[in-house]
Amino acid sequence: MFDRVAERYDLLNDALSLGMDHRWRRAVARAVDGGSGQLVLDLAAGTGTSSRAFVRRGARCVACDFSLGMLSVGARKPAAGLAFVGGDALVLPFRNEAFDVVTISFGLRNVADTGQALRELLRVTRPGGRLVICEFSHLPVHRLNDLYERYLAGVLPAVASRLSRNAEAYDYLAESIRDWPAQQVLAGQIAAAGWSGVSWRNLTLGVVALHEARRPG
Ligand SMILES: C[S@@+](CC[C@H](N)C(=O)[O-])C[C@H]1O[C@@H](n2cnc3c(N)ncnc32)[C@H](O)[C@@H]1O
Repeated sequence: MFDRVAERYDLLNDALSLGMDHRWRRAVARAVDGGSGQLVLDLAAGTGTSSRAFVRRGARCVACDFSLGMLSVGARKPAAGLAFVGGDALVLPFRNEAFDVVTISFGLRNVADTGQALRELLRVTRPGGRLVICEFSHLPVHRLNDLYERYLAGVLPAVASRLSRNAEAYDYLAESIRDWPAQQVLAGQIAAAGWSGVSWRNLTLGVVALHEARRPG
């Protein structure tokens, strides 16, 4: 599915989020804070849009994804300190404790087994290293959440069908956001995978949540 949407992926993101994705990515880059040569894994990195913000702040970054279509679009624009690597979140092709910071933006929801991905991320993070997850979430105010779900189910697929030849991918987007666990439930899953000090904060009223945690030791 992601191979098919790769060419227009970033354009659609900007349109469907009304440009708010830039703000969310800036928040992720500040949370990752991988300056001074730290090694960052950006998992499910797609075209590497988030990864570029990390290298601009002085990190070295491995952008890993299992969609070669997404990686190829990203690799057309090389950047110093950024490597694109094919790999599956469920069996990461990296040695234990290889990274200072691991992060995943709008990707965990798409991985088939959330717990396994969180355990793999833990395995490849050095003791004391950090996890940053940026994912669509739920608005704590129920009335607002109802309105937002109507946008997801109605407006979003209608706009996407005009801008993309793969409109069904955007039906999937709406459904996967609706079915994704609430902030607190995801925090529990992160802790259950072995991460400590789990915290989160909402961006744009909870449309997106940023979860952070640390590898013990
Ligand atoms: C919505 S895109 C997010 C891309 C990018 N992180 C961003 O912020 O724009 C989700 C990505 O997750 C990737 N993905 C889904 N399951 C994966 C897996 N098991 N291993 C690696 N990547 C996966 C898809 O290929 C896709 O590129």
